[in-house]
Amino acid sequence: MQRTLVVYNSRFGTTYEIAKKIGLILGPSKVIKYDEKNIDINEYDFIVFGTPVYNGSIDENIIKFILKNINQLKVKKCAAFCCCIKDKDKEKYFKPLKEILGESLIFFEGFTGRIKEEELTVNDLNEIRLLFHQNNLKLECFDNIKIDEIIDFALKLKHMKEDLLTNKIPEAKLKFYVEEFLNCHSTCTLSTASNKRVRGTPIEYNYKNNYIYLLTEGGEKFCNLLKNCSVSVSVYDNFQGMGKLAGMQIQGEAFLIDEKSREYKDVLNLRGINYENIIKLPITMNIIKIKLLKAEFIYSKFKSLGYDSKQIYYFTR
Ligand SMILES: Cc1cc2nc3c(=O)[nH]c(=O)nc-3n(C[C@H](O)[C@H](O)[C@H](O)COP(=O)(O)O)c2cc1C
Repeated sequence: MQRTLVVYNSRFGTTYEIAKKIGLILGPSKVIKYDEKNIDINEYDFIVFGTPVYNGSIDENIIKFILKNINQLKVKKCAAFCCCIKDKDKEKYFKPLKEILGESLIFFEGFTGRIKEEELTVNDLNEIRLLFHQNNLKLECFDNIKIDEIIDFALKLKHMKEDLLTNKIPEAKLKFYVEEFLNCHSTCTLSTASNKRVRGTPIEYNYKNNYIYLLTEGGEKFCNLLKNCSVSVSVYDNFQGMGKLAGMQIQGEAFLIDEKSREYKDVLNLRGINYENIIKLPITMNIIKIKLLKAEFIYSKFKSLGYDSKQIYYFTR
């Protein structure tokens, strides 16, 4: 699987905090300060640089790190983020990195960072006063780290990295293995969420033509489904070793099938259940239909076929 190296520098810890969060989302990863020893860039596929902005420039140690390792970095994919007071100036800040890394730099982002007056020296304070004055900003301590922006950035990088770096299995073959896997299994974990309520429900399913069908008496999963139709479905084998991984995480949208509809009867049929027997029951059996959107499939078999063991499959394509 693709490994990510996050290289940062930070004076007051803002860039470090963001680097750590990005490292968690992009894992497998390692987060290092620019001066860490014994790091072999060749062990990593994707490199993310995190730098603060001081005096109108990104950190010179990060630039030196890049220049020192430029031959290795030029053949990799890189991204970068900076912490600053005005994220709109990111184009200007990243100009030197764009020039050095060229096509290898696939994306960069600016985050508004943090300033704590009590942490600043007199010189810092004077500099900051001037900076705020030049930018028509009111001098104040500010803490503008927005976790949602960091998550969006990390997810964007994750998707770009997967798209650019995965040794992809041909689409038709992938479809075959995805459907084979779903058809060979019968039980999934249905994950639903709304506000602070989360629930993972082990439940039997049937798969057909990009949909999963679940027969259910009801229960707390509906507290979530009634508010949020976005679900995740996991299907997996028991762990038998790193060379025998097999697990799928699927994103989908859930709908309730009307019990008077033709579709309701068809799904019961698919399951080998007689409709007449179901309507005789003293309770209603509900059918949830999940439109499958995207599967992340980790399957060691792909590796033995010469592809990456993790593949992404879009059901709707
Ligand atoms: C002395 C000083 C100079 C700064 N100069 C700039 C600047 O020129 N442009 C900018 O956007 N932000 C500037 N900042 C804001 C920092 O980039 C911001 O506080 C950032 O969160 C610091 O990251 P760090 O905690 O990882 O060092 C400056 C901050 C200080 C204290």
